[in-house]
Amino acid sequence: MNEALYPRPASALPTGAPLRLSVIVPTFNERDNVATLVRRLDAALVGIAWEVIFVDDNSPDGTSEMVRTLARDDSRVRCIRRIGRRGLSGACIEGMLASSAPCAAVIDGDLQHDETQLAKMLGLLESDAADLVIGSRYVEGGSADSFNQQRLGASKLATAVAQRVLRVKIADPMSGFFMIRRDRFEQLAPQLSTQGFKILLDVVATGRGDLRIIEVPYTFGSRQHGESKLDSMVALDFLGLVLAKLTNDVVSLRFLLFALVGSIGLFVHFSALFILLEAFALPFAEAQGGAAMLAMTSNFLLNNFLTYRDQRLKGFGILRGLLLFYLVCSVGLLANVGVAFSVYDQEPIWWLAGASGALMGVVWNYAMSGLFVWRKR
Ligand code: GDD
Ligand code: MN
Repeated sequence: MNEALYPRPASALPTGAPLRLSVIVPTFNERDNVATLVRRLDAALVGIAWEVIFVDDNSPDGTSEMVRTLARDDSRVRCIRRIGRRGLSGACIEGMLASSAPCAAVIDGDLQHDETQLAKMLGLLESDAADLVIGSRYVEGGSADSFNQQRLGASKLATAVAQRVLRVKIADPMSGFFMIRRDRFEQLAPQLSTQGFKILLDVVATGRGDLRIIEVPYTFGSRQHGESKLDSMVALDFLGLVLAKLTNDVVSLRFLLFALVGSIGLFVHFSALFILLEAFALPFAEAQGGAAMLAMTSNFLLNNFLTYRDQRLKGFGILRGLLLFYLVCSVGLLANVGVAFSVYDQEPIWWLAGASGALMGVVWNYAMSGLFVWRKR
C-alpha cells in the first residue's frame, strides 16, 4: 500500500541480529518529512540493526498516523504519541527511555540534520572512544549556512553564554543532533529538564565533565517542508536551563516565572485599586476586591501564556482552570496572612512578617497550581 511512499527496505537484516542503535526523532507537524527520513536512515545505516522512534506531540497535521502507516510495513519504525504535552526536550527524553539499543541518537525530523554521519558516530561510541558524540556546526568542516543572520547571532550568543557560564567546553552545545551511550543517558535522565529544547546542553551540563565527548562536523541543511517551531520564547527556556544548572537545580524556571508573574500581579493590583478608588470612587472594600480579582485573572492568563506554555490550557479548560486558580489563590492568601501574623506575633518587624507571608503565599500558589490547575495529564 505504501510502495510508492516507502519501498520495502533492501537492507533488512536477518531477524535476531542484536539491535545496535535507536534513533529518536521528536516531531511536531512533520508529516511530509517522516517517510523521507526513514528512507534516508535505511540508506545511511546499511548493515546496522537499528530502530527509529518518533515521539510526536499529537501533531494536528497527522504526523503520528503517517508514522504508523510506515510502521505497519517496517517493524523498525515505532511511534510514541504524547497528548497534552509539548516540548522538544521532553520528547527526546521519553524516546530515549523507550529505547533499548546500547546507543541512542537524537535527530530532527525535518531533514536539517545529516543522517549520513550516524554510522560514523556509532562507530565512535562502539569503539569506546566516547560516551557522547555531537553533530557540530561549529567545528572545522561543519556549517550552518542555512541560518539567517538573526538566527546565527542568537545561536552564537547562546553558545557563548553556555560556554562561559556553564563552563561547557564544546563548540556546539546548542546542537540538537547527537548520539549517546544509553547507559550513560539513563544515569543522567532523572536530572534532566523536560521543559524547553536544549536537551544536549542539559545532558552535557548535567554530566559535569564526566562524559567523554567527541564532536563531528556536519552541515545544517535547510527545511524542505513545514516550518520551525522554535519561537522567541525559547530564549526564556534557555535562560531557565542556565539558571537551573547554575543553582544545582534548586531554582526552576517555572518557579521563577511564576514569581515574576506574581510581582506583575502586585503591580496590576495596585494600579487597579488606585483607579477604582480615584476614578470610579468605589468604596475601599469593593475596590480592593475588584483589584484582587483583576490581578488574579491577569496572573492566570500570564501563567497560562508563559509559565505553563508547554501545558497551555485551551478552550473550555481555560474557564475551569481560572476558577481553580481563584480557589488556589484564595487559600494562598489565607496562608499568606496566617504566616505573616504569626511571624509578626513573634517579632513585630513589619517587612519581615510581610515578606514571610508573601513567600508562603507564592510557594503555596505555585505548588497548588501545579497540582490542580496545570496538572500534568
Ligand atoms: N515532539 C515534539 N514536541 N517535537 C518538537 C517540538 C515539540 O514541542 N518542537 C519541535 N519539535 C521537533 C520538530 O518537529 C523537529 O523535528 C525538531 O523538533 C526540531 O524542531 P525545529 O522547529 O525544526 O527547530 P529548528 O530547526 O528551528 O532548531 C533546530 O536547530 C537548532 C540549532 O540551532 C533544533 O535541532 C534545535 O534543537 C537546535 O538547537
Ligand atoms: Mn528544523
